[in-house]
Amino acid sequence: MKIIQNLIQSLLKVLHLASNPDLLKQFQIHRSKTASFKERLDYETLTRCHYAYGTYYAALQAKALNISKISVIEFGVAGGNGLIELEKIATEVTKEVGVEIAIYGFDAATGMPKPIDYRDCPYMWQPEFFKMDIDLLKSKLKFSELVLGNVANTIGQFIQEKKPAPIGFISFDLDYYSSTLEAFKLLEQSNEFFLPRVFCYFDDCIGDDWIIHSEFAGELLAIKEFNEKQPTRKIAKIEGLRYKRIFEAYWNEVMYCFHLFDHPLYNQYIYPAENLELPWNWQNKWGILKTYWGSGNS
Ligand SMILES: C[S@@+](CC[C@H](N)C(=O)[O-])C[C@H]1O[C@@H](n2cnc3c(N)ncnc32)[C@H](O)[C@@H]1O
Repeated sequence: MKIIQNLIQSLLKVLHLASNPDLLKQFQIHRSKTASFKERLDYETLTRCHYAYGTYYAALQAKALNISKISVIEFGVAGGNGLIELEKIATEVTKEVGVEIAIYGFDAATGMPKPIDYRDCPYMWQPEFFKMDIDLLKSKLKFSELVLGNVANTIGQFIQEKKPAPIGFISFDLDYYSSTLEAFKLLEQSNEFFLPRVFCYFDDCIGDDWIIHSEFAGELLAIKEFNEKQPTRKIAKIEGLRYKRIFEAYWNEVMYCFHLFDHPLYNQYIYPAENLELPWNWQNKWGILKTYWGSGNS
């Protein structure tokens, strides 16, 4: 009985795959040893597509601006799973795009600090959560650097000592409102340390049924306050990203861009020529004709 059930399940899976060209392609890319990084990113087969998206498009932006090296940052490292994944991603992006990438991971190492008040959502996070095993993590890291200590104290020294290559992607995963606001001090540094548009991932804007994020606490409140304070620099959600992906994913909703409108390179034209072709049915590229007329050739 069990064998027949399994057989039917496998058959249904094959039929489902065969009837959906995107799923079929995803399956092929997932199994392929020759698929490009871009293909694996497009078809959502990478472990942390949000890190891959931010790093890849930051590298492309740098290349278009003739910048040969960038930095990517993870705020909130904990055990280091994200940083280790970021190393793999950066290595592949460098190989595919040709831009060198330095990685920095910021963390207290001693776990979460004390929450300041309701804005840090202490009903969800508590002091000393996510402690780091520093030696173990260092033994696993290949080339990223750890910046250890409370971010309230480490950013100024980091900039002075490391003079990082332009930052192109930042993952914010410090959980608290107060810690995120401290981390935003990095975003007040001078233009030379940034690409004009920095891809940002905010881990704590979407959560489960217990965390219940809102604009009145956590990362969303920190973003709101930063934007209110800064006249020429803004952190803005990448609107409509999910419509441009082959497969929608939760992370599409929490990808932001840190715009430095005062950056000397902000207005430099970099749009890729191939995106500018306007054949008679150009709308098809965006799925407009398909949606309204059922076919791209109507
Ligand atoms: C959820 S964990 C990060 C998980 C990690 N990004 C991953 O993907 O595996 C949050 C981390 O933020 C760190 N953190 C929170 N507030 C901090 C602060 N003010 N300074 C430094 N680290 C802080 C904590 O130590 C903790 O390790």
